[in-house]
Order: sequence, then C-alpha cells, then structure tokens
Amino acid sequence: MPTILSIKNLRKAYEDGFEALKDVSLDIEEGEIIALLGPNGAGKTTLISTVCGITMPTAGSVSVAGHDILQDYRAARSLIGLVPQEIALEPFENVINTVRFSRGLFGKPRKDGVVEDILRRLSLWDKRDNEIRALSGGMKRRVLIAKALAHEPRVLFLDEPTAGVDVELRKDMWEIVDQLRADGVTTVLTTHYIEEAEAIADRVGVISKGEILLVEDKVKLMARMGRKQLDVQLTQPLSEIPKALQAYDLTLGDDGWTLTYSYDTKGERTGITKLLTELAGTGLQLRDVVTRQSSLEDIFVSLVREDEKEAS
Ligand SMILES: Nc1ncnc2c1ncn2[C@@H]1O[C@H](COP(=O)(O)OP(=O)(O)OP(=O)(O)O)[C@@H](O)[C@H]1O
Ligand SMILES: [Mg+2]
Repeated sequence: MPTILSIKNLRKAYEDGFEALKDVSLDIEEGEIIALLGPNGAGKTTLISTVCGITMPTAGSVSVAGHDILQDYRAARSLIGLVPQEIALEPFENVINTVRFSRGLFGKPRKDGVVEDILRRLSLWDKRDNEIRALSGGMKRRVLIAKALAHEPRVLFLDEPTAGVDVELRKDMWEIVDQLRADGVTTVLTTHYIEEAEAIADRVGVISKGEILLVEDKVKLMARMGRKQLDVQLTQPLSEIPKALQAYDLTLGDDGWTLTYSYDTKGERTGITKLLTELAGTGLQLRDVVTRQSSLEDIFVSLVREDEKEAS
C-alpha cells in the first residue's frame, strides 16, 4: 500500500518552551486504521493538531499524499477530515446545514447526495432538521464525524472519538470506521480504551512524553509480547511459595490463595506439565486452574511504565 501520510522528524515546542513532540516520525499507509495509545499529556492531540495545520511545527515535515502541510496547505488539508477531542458545534444550527457548511469550507461544490449518504450512514438522517443544542452528547459526536467527512477526505483523524460514549455507540463508531476503510479512507485514531485499539486497529502506536515508543502490526505485537498466565487457585491459602516449587518463577497473590505462573506462548516448552506434576507432589489441593492471555492492555501498561522508569 502506498504511504498517504508521512511525518518526518516532527518536533513541537509550545511557547512556554515545553516540548510536546520530540522527533516523531511515522508513515501511514493508505487504507489502514492506526490507533495511537498514550497516557494523558503524551502528545496525541498535539500530533494531530500539527498534522492538521492547527498548530505550527517547530521542526520536521508532514506531507499528505505528497502535499507538504506548510508549502501546500490547502491541498494537504482538503484531504484530511478531523474529529476533534472537544465538541465544538454551533448550537442553534441544524444538523444538515452544519454538515453542508463544513463541505463548503473546503471549497467543495454542494452535493446533497453526498451529505445525505453521510448522514444516513451515521444514523443522523432523521435528525437532519434538529438543532445541535437539542441533540444528546453521543449524537453530537456523530455530527462531528459527519462534519469531518463532509468534504470526502482520504484521511480521517479521530481524537478520542468514543470518550464518554456508551457501549452501543462505541460499537457503532467502530463499524463506521470499518465501513470507511472499505471506501479506502485511512483512519488515525487516538484512544485511552485499549479494547478499542484491539477491536479495530490494523496497527498500534504507543506514544509517551512526546515520543513514539513503538508502532507495530496489532496481531504481531500481541503475538510478540503476549504471554499467558496460569493461575492455580488453592483450597487453602499459603504464606509462602513451597520449597519444591521455588525453581519456578511463580508469584503468590490473592492473599495466598493463587499461585501464578507466567509463560511464553511461543516457547516450545511451556513448563506446565512439569509444574503441575510437582504441584501434585506437594500435596496442595487445587480448587481451579485458569489460563489467561495477556492483553494489549498489559503490553501497553508495561511499555509506558518502562518508559517512565527510564526517564526517572
Ligand atoms: N497550547 C499549549 N501550550 C503549552 N503546552 C501545551 C499546549 N497544548 C498542550 N500542551 C502540553 O503538551 C503536552 C501534550 O498535550 P496533548 O494535548 O497533545 O496530550 P494528549 O496526548 O492529547 O493528552 P490527552 O490524552 O489528555 O488528550 C501536555 O503536557 C500539555 O500540557
Ligand atoms: Mg488529547
């Protein structure tokens, strides 16, 4: 797939000198869905604002389908749709005019068919004549997406699209992003919900303190870093790990009620059989044995934690 968005050595220092982005480089392929995960203040919104021309970069370059965002701003910007983190809509305007107006801003000729299609897709068609102020928060989020799509962009930025949105609407949004991909739209989204990245992204980027720590194919990332855990639940609590089991890297948790063994899913030998045999030898009574796959959440938390440790 060709690269649609190319970010090279991007830096952003705000007026107070704070460096919100430090040498960020990232290539995004046409048609992919990439999720940027990062704690509060990591620089996600700054990155999006810089790409969208709302914030001036301090150094580096960004191009969209070959158009430089500084030298060729209008061409670059017209290829981008932005759903901002904060809801900013005209309260007394109605839904359809809000979306039409946004299309006009990009100099696109009025096309009622396009606007209708977008509104229908976002389940807003029935609400087209409603004033924005009469909509629920979730509906306003949909209007923001409709607005961002009004000029038929090729790259869509969603800055925390599902913050404070209920489960159903969140799933709807995922479906919308998936449908857009079928039309060839590239989506970059930021999120705090790791299950969101797990559900819809092709690639996941982790950003912390203005730096990209990692960008990787989601499936590969989960396979590479994913570990499995075996929880052995006991009928009696233990005060310490029995001597016979000390060769294993076990942790005792849950106030002594659970022994946890962590193993590599790709390893040829997991060590489970041996462990269970030794466990039987200790005479411990087991209530249950449960395995868990570490999630993207575990991976993310450990990455960000490591980064914080390195910095301190
Ligand atoms: N206009 C500004 N002037 C100075 N500092 C700013 C400005 N805007 C953002 N920052 C700082 O830059 C850093 C990155 O902010 P940014 O909004 O990009 O983070 P974020 O990853 O989007 O966080 P969140 O998850 O909370 O939305 C923060 O430390 C923030 O305080
Ligand atoms: Mg933000």
